[in-house]
Amino acid sequence: MSANPTSREESFLVTGGTRLAGEIPVAGAKNSVLKLMAVALMARGRTTLTNCPAISDVPAMADVLRHLGCTVEITGDTVSIDTPAEVGHVADDKAAQRLRASVCILGPLVGRYHRAVIAMPGGDAIGSRPLNWHQTGLTLLGATTRMDHGRLVAEADRLTGARYGLKFPSVGATETFVTAAVLAEGTSVLENAAREPEIVDICTLLAKMGAKISGAGTSTITIEGVDELRPVSHRVVGDRIVAATWAMGAVMTRGDVTVTGIDPMNIHVVLENLRAVGADVETGEDRVRVRQEGRPIARNIRTLPFPGFPTDLQPMAIALASVSDGLSVVTENLFEARFRFVEEMIRMGVDAETDGHHAKIRGRERLDSATVWASDIRAGAGLVLAGMCADEVTEVCEVFHIDRGYSDFVGNVRSLGGVIERVDTSR
Ligand code: UD1
Repeated sequence: MSANPTSREESFLVTGGTRLAGEIPVAGAKNSVLKLMAVALMARGRTTLTNCPAISDVPAMADVLRHLGCTVEITGDTVSIDTPAEVGHVADDKAAQRLRASVCILGPLVGRYHRAVIAMPGGDAIGSRPLNWHQTGLTLLGATTRMDHGRLVAEADRLTGARYGLKFPSVGATETFVTAAVLAEGTSVLENAAREPEIVDICTLLAKMGAKISGAGTSTITIEGVDELRPVSHRVVGDRIVAATWAMGAVMTRGDVTVTGIDPMNIHVVLENLRAVGADVETGEDRVRVRQEGRPIARNIRTLPFPGFPTDLQPMAIALASVSDGLSVVTENLFEARFRFVEEMIRMGVDAETDGHHAKIRGRERLDSATVWASDIRAGAGLVLAGMCADEVTEVCEVFHIDRGYSDFVGNVRSLGGVIERVDTSR
């Protein structure tokens, strides 16, 4: 796995004017693998995860687990985690602040060890990301939680099953509640649970480990507590966001891309939108082919929890709107700061404005190349796609963000015929 931490001073130079074409496999999902690694804390012995992506967040999560006392090996696409009988309960502040997903150790630690101390996590700058619903879930199960010098402290004498109705189907709060409840005494029910494929993947792993969970992938998850979990092997679900990135790139560059390693149902709504803008979409069991001839048609898109259009693809939706024929309105319902991306598109000559949750974008046939900044993983990928539709060379700065979520981004873009290089701008 080649996922060395990359410098903040690296940029991508993207030459516009090529169409993306060819076949590309996607690896396991970032938003699943990091949670699965945390779930390994819940069983003594060796948990093995395959199909892991070569992204920099994986070694960062490995460091979080090592700090707690686990032995973690990363070999190719396999991550093995050896969990001792007892692990620490205080997460390393620096490692945890490097990645948002460090919050996913909260449920497993409280569930198995009845205590956890985590720094308020870092990650993408896409808006305020409170943990109040995580705390409520743990409190209902019998824990106490408090903030102490910038850290969240959770403790319990014992955990007992509880019923919790989420105000909003939060992915993270669903994971915290489910992971804490699997080792609680008695039955727990989570209503208005998140239904993302990554939640299903986590529940599948937990069930293999001996947990009793039903309803994963629906709005009501029921958990009957068990005494202990055993370590197992598991293949990480394919990354639907990466898959859809390449599919949307095919439409923007009027290309022809086949993505493999993904259940097309996991990006069903995205594919419906691509059909509506004029793309020809064919799906197979684990693959999808997307072809576009001519200019895409403008279309309004709004982000919603799964099965709706994912917020993680909102920058790509804006990039697509920027080259589409007509006016598109993109509505962001999850993370308020994601519209920073629009400012970067304006640098590229796009006529766009934002108003609260809405961005209005009038597309152009071809974008102006410019120097632009990746503010988070997905914004970075969206800017590269936009750069491919620009007249000359676009510099996308701070691409360490992209490396957190996309394996071998440059190699993959090149394999599809895109012209891109990584440069160190500090020299
Ligand atoms: C996860 C994903 C992220 C994705 C998001 C929504 C990971 C590592 N990250 O983030 O890529 O964009 O799901 O699909 O898996 N909220 C609260 N209080 C809480 C928890 C959440 O107000 O206690 C709010 C958030 O501010 C946000 C909304 O709920 O507005 C959705 O957040 P959530 O689904 O929890 O996202 P994450 O799990 O943080």
